[in-house]
Amino acid sequence: MDNFIYHAPTRIVFGRNTVSQTGAELAAHNVRRTLLVTGGSAAMRTGAYAQVTASLDGAGVMHTLFSGVTPNPSLDLVEKGIAAAHAFAVDSVLAIGGGSVIDCAKAIAAGVFLEDYWAQVETRRPVTQALPVFTVLTLSGTGSEMNEKAVITNEPLARKWSLSGLCLCPRVSIIDPQLQSSVPWHLTAAGGIDAMTHVMENYFRGRTARAATGYFQEETTLQLCEGILRAIIMSLDELQRDGSDYTARANLAWAASWGLNGLSGSGLSGGDWTSHALEHALSGLHPQVPHGEGLAVIFPSWMEQVCHSVPDIFTRFARTIWGVSTAEEGVAATRQAFSRWGAPDRLSRWSIPASDIPRMVQNALSYRALGRIVPLSAEDVTSIYTRVL
Ligand code: NZQ
Ligand code: ZN
Repeated sequence: MDNFIYHAPTRIVFGRNTVSQTGAELAAHNVRRTLLVTGGSAAMRTGAYAQVTASLDGAGVMHTLFSGVTPNPSLDLVEKGIAAAHAFAVDSVLAIGGGSVIDCAKAIAAGVFLEDYWAQVETRRPVTQALPVFTVLTLSGTGSEMNEKAVITNEPLARKWSLSGLCLCPRVSIIDPQLQSSVPWHLTAAGGIDAMTHVMENYFRGRTARAATGYFQEETTLQLCEGILRAIIMSLDELQRDGSDYTARANLAWAASWGLNGLSGSGLSGGDWTSHALEHALSGLHPQVPHGEGLAVIFPSWMEQVCHSVPDIFTRFARTIWGVSTAEEGVAATRQAFSRWGAPDRLSRWSIPASDIPRMVQNALSYRALGRIVPLSAEDVTSIYTRVL
């Protein structure tokens, strides 16, 4: 097991009717004026916005609204949000939404201290100063409610890159699974698949310690990963039957938060993240591609590409997650589950032309994380995309 630092400082307030605690939580952090960041309409439709503002008013926290954050948020939006934060002289940001809204809020929180947000992203260095971030989660999947990353797209450059820094970890995240009872199935599935891939990006870096007993170097982390993966799979199956099932919503939400808060990568040297690099290259160029759906297409193709190079961990995955025997069967079972949940399995879903592949390959190769488990050439990356055209 490699050395690691585990530090997940976000306070989680989880469960039914917890949104009413938002005001008290912010007040306890000495917040006086906050920028409320929301997306299109989900925050309003779910009633979250009304509950949050009532709670803030009750606690004497002033607020101003910055709405209209779109999925795969753009740099342009972040810059508008930074201007709004300056204009209202806020001392914090409060996101109500899914990963896109939370990431945009985090970017605004950091951006108020930066001369040029994108220049900081390009340095690949963590930020050390940001306004305190708070979240009310309405869609589970990304884990952004409990981690230090903000993923933003620079549309003119077609680059979707993250900014990170411990100061971007939300101070408090309110997770009331009731807010997700009306999430349509395709978004539920995309979020669940995204959360699975966060765990899997780490998991496949596991290394055998003793072949004779099947004991791995990161046995504890791998078993935690397997538990999280099984919980997500079972919860998605339950939610496909009944999207209003509170228990399944709650379990999916909690598993997704743990999928990307540092735990699933502990001892695994930061995991792999090739599929995420390839998905970010895809949705950086085509922002209409939902992140979780892009991963549903790309991740199994990456598995197919590399599973023979690291057979022990892929065989373990096949056995413990899907109850099948071989690495290839594990890849097939993953594809079947994604397709049973209605996720796309080809890039043609978004009419991506083959002529875009060289640009996506070039973009993907600029990610430092690419190919940590199995080194990948430009030809290999081309194959991963081409296989699922
Ligand atoms: O725009 P609104 O009205 O809010 O609607 C959203 C959006 O259309 C809707 N939605 C959210 N809550 C809902 C709801 N619809 C009905 N009921 C509710 N309760 O869902 C749609 C998709 O929302 P979005 O926030 O885009 O989805 P997601 O949570 O999957 O976030 C995706 C973004 O997060 C980034 C992705 O790259 C992408 O930009 N990621 C962030 C990560 C992080 N910060 O750690 C890691 C991830 O790997 C990922 O890269
Ligand atoms: Zn993801």
